[in-house]
Amino acid sequence: MSWKANKQFTSLFLFSNIYSSTLYPFFQIFILAQVLDIIQKHHGVTMAEVAVYGILFAIVSLINIALTSLVNFQGFYKEVGFDMYIDKLIIQKLTTLDPQTFEKPSFQKLLAEVEAARGVLSAQIDRLTGFISAIAKTLTAIFVLLPLFPIFIPLILVSVVPAYYIGDVSRKRMWPFFTSKRTVVTRVTQYVKTLLSQDSTSKEASIFHTGAIMQHKVTIEQQKYLRDYKKINDSYASGILGANIFQFCVFLLTQYINLVAVVKGTLAVGQFTLAFQQSQNLATGSQGILDMYSSMKNRIQQIEKFFTFFDYQPAITSPQEPKILPTSPVPPIIEFKNVSFRYPKTERDILKNFNVILNSGEKIALVGENGAGKTTIIKLLLRFYDVTEGEILVNGINIKNLILEQWHSKVGALFQDFIKYQFTFKENIYYGNFEEKNNEDLLKDAIAKSGADKYLESLPDGVNQIVGKMFDSGIDLSGGQWQKLALARAFFRNAPILILDEPTAAIDAKAEYEIFENVQKLQKDKTVLIISHRFSTVRNADRILVLEDGKILEEGNHETLMKKKGLYAELFEIQAKGYK
Ligand SMILES: Nc1ncnc2c1ncn2[C@@H]1O[C@H](COP(=O)(O)OP(=O)(O)O)[C@@H](O)[C@H]1O
Ligand SMILES: [Mg+2]
Repeated sequence: MSWKANKQFTSLFLFSNIYSSTLYPFFQIFILAQVLDIIQKHHGVTMAEVAVYGILFAIVSLINIALTSLVNFQGFYKEVGFDMYIDKLIIQKLTTLDPQTFEKPSFQKLLAEVEAARGVLSAQIDRLTGFISAIAKTLTAIFVLLPLFPIFIPLILVSVVPAYYIGDVSRKRMWPFFTSKRTVVTRVTQYVKTLLSQDSTSKEASIFHTGAIMQHKVTIEQQKYLRDYKKINDSYASGILGANIFQFCVFLLTQYINLVAVVKGTLAVGQFTLAFQQSQNLATGSQGILDMYSSMKNRIQQIEKFFTFFDYQPAITSPQEPKILPTSPVPPIIEFKNVSFRYPKTERDILKNFNVILNSGEKIALVGENGAGKTTIIKLLLRFYDVTEGEILVNGINIKNLILEQWHSKVGALFQDFIKYQFTFKENIYYGNFEEKNNEDLLKDAIAKSGADKYLESLPDGVNQIVGKMFDSGIDLSGGQWQKLALARAFFRNAPILILDEPTAAIDAKAEYEIFENVQKLQKDKTVLIISHRFSTVRNADRILVLEDGKILEEGNHETLMKKKGLYAELFEIQAKGYK
């Protein structure tokens, strides 16, 4: 992925790394060795004799300076660019997934793990670069030592094994502290920070003084984490110390042999220096190979989360062989036929043998207690979930046979938890129908119908006013003002079917009444499905469905239902009394 993000830079980064960690020190010591040897051989050495080495030294050093500054300069780009690239991929993937997927706790967990793994991903690339540099370093050292002291090679290679082994075993046990255990602490911390600082929660936290209690919760998690980590870390400390001392003793032995050779005069001083440095390099290089390998091995598991995420398929997909939606009538007739439904992995039927026909252009209200299944009906109609039994027909065609995007384009829906886009007023509206973003008439119309025109005048920048407090110069709106803005978005969509699932709870009863009167009058040619707890709104609908336990208990217009003196009449009376 990093490769794709920036090919040239990755190659440059790799080369620069190998150059400065391996080649450059080698050239330096090689040149120094040559100079020392010349000086040692005959005493009256002239500058001309060593000048060529001086020039060589200057060249290799300049290359090193150029490479490191180039990488430094681009390092920022690499880090930020890579992070941005990953974000782009994540957002791209999220747009292909559906509400049913997002409602799964297992998916939310995966998403958190992917976020946590992104650091691992870039670290893995650094490890890979380190791994390749370490190989280059080791090979160079072997190449240099082979003609001088071949015995050093097996000695040093064996000397690094104990430290690697202990490191590998301990790393396996410490790894959860960098991943799963770490995310537990960060998630609790993040949650507490959000609770204390968010507009929506800080008020309650403030009057109940929960700050100190929350802080204590975080401290406990942190302490537990550090304590457990220290315990494991300590259990390996003496082993690692021993292994390092062993490695050092082997190194001392090799350098003893090296020193004996130079003292005896069988080895030139320059060669001695070279052998000394390359022995060190062989140790650090081979240790690097093993370390990077062990570290990469652990990271791979974490990185697999990325692949699981990017392979994730939406719960609902369009059919292989879609059917065409018959063009008449518009709006289409919608029929729920013997529909039963239960949420995946649950036991309870939310809808049981549910039957209803929504006629073309009808204004239907859905009422019923919380949890009666109203929103579920909408989710099924929008095919966020598939029915467990029965079918939903649109102009006679099962919605499972329609292309999903085409079906969704026929519906404008607004939910209780609609989006408050922290962008401009205008964007909040035209996101309902991006293709029509320059349609001024449609915009004005939608603003007027929703009642948002009432407060638009008070916004300093008019329709270009940034709303919400998230970004600079944003002006926050009241709950009711937000709802009107969201309604404008639904109207702007101008789809033949309009669904409003309690988006108006924060609007006062009179304003809601006016909005829906507007809807009835102005949306004559549309099918409108309204869910509201306000009977003043509901009573104007062509037909009211009273839902209880996933079944239609009563249906008819306001007058019929009042005459029937059933649940509707009872609830209506209670609310009417409250208003008197
Ligand atoms: N994603 C879900 N998984 C499991 N149960 C759910 C899910 N969403 C809603 N429910 C349950 O379905 C029932 C109906 O919910 P809903 O349709 O939202 O009710 P209403 O909109 O009428 O208040 C409730 O008991 C709710 O707990
Ligand atoms: Mg609901």
